[in-house]
Amino acid sequence: MTLKEKLNTDKIPQHVAIIMDGNGRWAAMHGNERFFGHEQGVESVRSVLEGASEIGIKYLTLYAFSTENWSRPKAEVDALMGLLVHAINAETESLKKKNVKLSMIGDFDSLPDEVQQKLEWSINELKDCTGVNLILALSYSSKWEITEAIRKIAEDVQAQKLKTEDITKELIDKYLATNGIPDPELLIRTSGENRLSNFLLWQVAYSEFYFTPVLWPDFTKEHLFEAVYDYQNRERRFGKTSQQIVS
Ligand code: FPP
Repeated sequence: MTLKEKLNTDKIPQHVAIIMDGNGRWAAMHGNERFFGHEQGVESVRSVLEGASEIGIKYLTLYAFSTENWSRPKAEVDALMGLLVHAINAETESLKKKNVKLSMIGDFDSLPDEVQQKLEWSINELKDCTGVNLILALSYSSKWEITEAIRKIAEDVQAQKLKTEDITKELIDKYLATNGIPDPELLIRTSGENRLSNFLLWQVAYSEFYFTPVLWPDFTKEHLFEAVYDYQNRERRFGKTSQQIVS
C-alpha cells in the first residue's frame, strides 16, 4: 500500500501552508550558487502542487518571498524576482490545464513592475479554474499584514463605517490578506528550522506544525503525503479535553 493510499480521504486538510526553506544550503551541498537551489525549488513546487491536487487539498499557500527577504544581497533578490517572472510565464498554461487558481498575499505594490504585471496576467488567466487554489505569499510578512489590517480598521472606525464594538475576530479575519481563505490546518516547514519567520501568525493559531529536515529542493509530493499522514494521526483538541473529542 502506498502512503497516498494510506491517507484517510475524509481527513484531508483543506488548507496546507508551506515555508519552503533550505534552497541555499541545498545549492551549497551540490557545490553551486544559491540561485541553483531556488531554481530546483520550482521543481518541488510543481511536485507538491500535483500532490495537493491528487489528494484534494483545496488551498496551498507557499511562502515564496518574505518582507525580510528584501534585505538579501541585491543580486539574489533580482535573481529570485526573475525566476518568479520566468516560472509564472512558463507555468501558467500548464496550471490552467491542471485547473489551478492563482492568487497572492503580500505587499503587491512593493514588487517590481514586471512581477506585478506577470502576476496580474496569470491570476486573470486562471480566474475561472476550480481546482487547487495556489496562494503565493510574496513580499509578505504577518506583522505587515496585521499592521495593514489595524490601519484599515482604524480608518473605517474614523470614517464611521465601523463601530469599535464591531471589532471581533471574524471582522479582523476580513481585513487580513487571507480574507475568504480558511485557516491552514497544517503548516509545513522544510530544512530543519523550527520557527514561523513571520508567516501567517494569526491564521495558524490552531494549525498543526510539521517540521522536516528535508531541504525544499528535495521535497516532493511523497513528503507532502507523509506530512498529511502525520497530521491525520494527531488529535486536534482546540482547547477541549481528549475525552470530549473522543465522545
Ligand atoms: C528559502 O530558502 C527560499 C526562498 C527564500 C525562496 C523560495 C522560492 C522558490 C522555491 C522559487 C520560486 C517559487 C515559486 C512559487 C515559483 P533559503 O534561500 O533561505 O535557503 P537557506 O536557508 O538554505 O539559505
